[in-house]
Amino acid sequence: MAISVHAPAVLDGVPLVLLHAFPLDSRMWDGVVEALVGVPIVRVDAPGFGDSPVTGPGLESFALAVVEEVRARAGRAVVAGLSMGGYVAMAVAEAAPELIAGIGLLSTKATADPDAAREKRLAMAAAVEAGERGVAVGMLEGLVGESTRTARPDVVARVRGWLESAPADGIVWAQRSMAARPDRSAVLASLPDGLPSLVLRGTEDTLMSDADAAAMASALGVGVTKVVGAGHLAAVERPAEVATALRDLYERVSAPAPPR
Ligand code: MLT
Repeated sequence: MAISVHAPAVLDGVPLVLLHAFPLDSRMWDGVVEALVGVPIVRVDAPGFGDSPVTGPGLESFALAVVEEVRARAGRAVVAGLSMGGYVAMAVAEAAPELIAGIGLLSTKATADPDAAREKRLAMAAAVEAGERGVAVGMLEGLVGESTRTARPDVVARVRGWLESAPADGIVWAQRSMAARPDRSAVLASLPDGLPSLVLRGTEDTLMSDADAAAMASALGVGVTKVVGAGHLAAVERPAEVATALRDLYERVSAPAPPR
């Protein structure tokens, strides 16, 4: 699968791969990347988003494309994703666990969709395929936390602009792919003990629950990092705090193991 990858020509060390949320693209990481000077970062656009064409269906085929990119460029990577990006990070961990030097799961969950949520996704995909436009704008309130909506009109305007221009074929691909994803709780539990891991949640996220985050954290043997005053799009709303958490994850990958 030809996917669009944003990365320096030469990667100095194990890269940090950042996977974006739905229905955005890798620009959602701009603020985080600015704050992560010195970390080699690879950003990837999901099929139908940014510069990536839509190809095969399924988060799994996208995950395999990410695996190929990492193998070609670096061998191993710290793989981090927010929401849909987290679903993809878990699919990467399932497809190629040996490639995972560390994992970051932000505003996401390991479980599959309940039936009602799955049906809602398929209905949105069908509506967009039938020509309906502007459906993504209705997601604004769920994506951005209350504090940001009240006090940060610039952030709200940026997210609204992304939602207004969300590509139809990307929405259809992503909703059908997310609807079909399985529960990957067992994938997390099967990763090696002590694998550097981050589970992060904005305290105002209304789309993913504390219980979702706690379950992933428990499977990975870590605590939940909370970003106060952020909603679902913590990386857009509070990029400095999210960058600090990702830098800490990245540094744990390169640090020597503590003495026993
Ligand atoms: C996202 O932010 O990527 C979406 O909320 C994921 C989803 O619809 O489950």
